[in-house]
Amino acid sequence: MRVERRPVDEAESRRANGPDWDRYADEYQSTHGEFLGDAGFVWGPEGLTEAVAGVLGPVADRDVLEVGSGAGQCSRWVRAQGGRSYGLDLSLRQLQHSRRIDDETGIAVPSVLGTATDLPFRDDSFDIVFSSFGALQFVRDLPRAVAETARVLRPGGRYAFSITHPTRWMFPDDPTEAGLVASQSYWDRTPYVEVDDATGVVSYVEHHRTLGDWVAVLSRAGFLLTDLVEPEWPAAHDRVWGGWSRTRGLVTPGTAIFGARLTG
Ligand SMILES: C[S@@+](CC[C@H](N)C(=O)[O-])C[C@H]1O[C@@H](n2cnc3c(N)ncnc32)[C@H](O)[C@@H]1O
Repeated sequence: MRVERRPVDEAESRRANGPDWDRYADEYQSTHGEFLGDAGFVWGPEGLTEAVAGVLGPVADRDVLEVGSGAGQCSRWVRAQGGRSYGLDLSLRQLQHSRRIDDETGIAVPSVLGTATDLPFRDDSFDIVFSSFGALQFVRDLPRAVAETARVLRPGGRYAFSITHPTRWMFPDDPTEAGLVASQSYWDRTPYVEVDDATGVVSYVEHHRTLGDWVAVLSRAGFLLTDLVEPEWPAAHDRVWGGWSRTRGLVTPGTAIFGARLTG
């Protein structure tokens, strides 16, 4: 596998990332499942929970969609609070884990295979749409994904999502002190791409947008930005998750959580 920065369109992003998450799902769930909690809602590797952050607002009796729901841990927490949450994910294997945990916990999250850029729901179906590191940094056509969210939300509906903090794209994805030395331009939006050496096929893609890009995409789709939470790394939290670690987390933000309200 080799790493490149090069343009990738929406179809190629999806063709790469669906199978990649299928291949990675078993390892992802066995490595991170306990930290996530079967019916837990964490916004990122810092461990900030929705119970503490309150970015979604009240969820009881609300219709809620999680885009990029993975094994449905966050949606299961919403159900435990009395919300009617549903999941959508690009990876069948992730959804199989979701079904397994439904059975183990007795809290079922009805979920569908699909993509953030083409939501299989009627207009005005939900009060809340959210993603916890789900889908958004994997799609090329972000304006379409956000427009789809606006379409399925009811007027005044809540939208919240977490992503890798955009400033992280300046640094190597390294949890040690080497990951604190800026080496890439913050303004370079060229996607991060992994290519299979043997076949030349793109096997994984992530897309970068600056903070200003995110604000512009939200406001053009009719959202009013209400929150931008940058969780601090708890001093006693010693977990390493990919490029996230205490070493870096005490110095620079690793996660950004956006909260917005659909106007009109
Ligand atoms: C880091 S996981 C987040 C899931 C869950 N919140 C968690 O913390 O485990 C990212 C998820 O986004 C999904 N995903 C990637 N591209 C997507 C797309 N275009 N539409 C919907 N889901 C997508 C992946 O399959 C994966 O399950």
